[in-house]
Amino acid sequence: MNITDSQKLQKEVVKLKEQQKIVGLVPTMGALHRGHLSLVNFAFKHCDYVIVSIFVNPTQFNNAGDLKNYPKNHDADYNLLLNNNAKTIVFSPSVEEVYGENVEAEEFDFGSIVQYMEGEFRSGHFNGVGTILKRLFDIVKPDKAFFGEKDYQQLALVKKLVEITEQDVEVIGCPTSRMESGLAESSRNFRLTDHQLSESSLIYESLQKAKSAFHEGQDFQEIKEMIQSDFDRNQTLDLEYFEIAEADSLVPVDTKKNEKSYRGFMAAFAGEVRLIDNIAF
Ligand code: PAF
Repeated sequence: MNITDSQKLQKEVVKLKEQQKIVGLVPTMGALHRGHLSLVNFAFKHCDYVIVSIFVNPTQFNNAGDLKNYPKNHDADYNLLLNNNAKTIVFSPSVEEVYGENVEAEEFDFGSIVQYMEGEFRSGHFNGVGTILKRLFDIVKPDKAFFGEKDYQQLALVKKLVEITEQDVEVIGCPTSRMESGLAESSRNFRLTDHQLSESSLIYESLQKAKSAFHEGQDFQEIKEMIQSDFDRNQTLDLEYFEIAEADSLVPVDTKKNEKSYRGFMAAFAGEVRLIDNIAF
């Protein structure tokens, strides 16, 4: 089923909830790939029905070119989802349906989790993400909502958003789905040339290398220099940032304290295409 109208979707959700069905939401911007399907299938393990929203959210793009070039593939997305599981409901509202006349992001105070890394390099992005998710939760009122760990800061943001706005939805994180090379699945991978695609495995390889160095007790500054020089030697990829951050606050650190857990975070460009990834250290 494909629904574009919010009220129609709400009626559908009310009907399902009256039948004691558990309703999940997987928000997406379309151009679906195996990573999305693994998220949807993960959601089906916890829910009777899964609503997949397909909405390219204009307020989270800080780069007009990126918004314009974002791949759109609605018919293929729809077929993929329904062939995967017939209990999927696709919700694909128009920008007007979601935002009315006022296509603007609200301001949120998410604290330290959005200050660094993606927050530093994509100004305004997280307020746009918060705005659309608050609206989607208000429209859909899902029991549970599912987000990939690839966008780890986003996952932390959604948990915080639900707390701030007191929305009654359980936020569940799902492991990153990867290609055989280790590259995280992403809609942006569709824009890579074959050469860029194969070179982009450096991102995950570097994270793994940094993780080993971290566990061997190597100095953080030295780890960063090692990663930077690996990228300097690569002709195809440009490293935007690599950080080791504390896993709860998502604040980058220079040294480790024993009782804390950490993750490595990275963003790199292959030509114009910006790729991100992170792993637990
Ligand atoms: O991760 C995404 O694709 C988007 O940020 C989301 C969660 C669908 C909000 O537009």
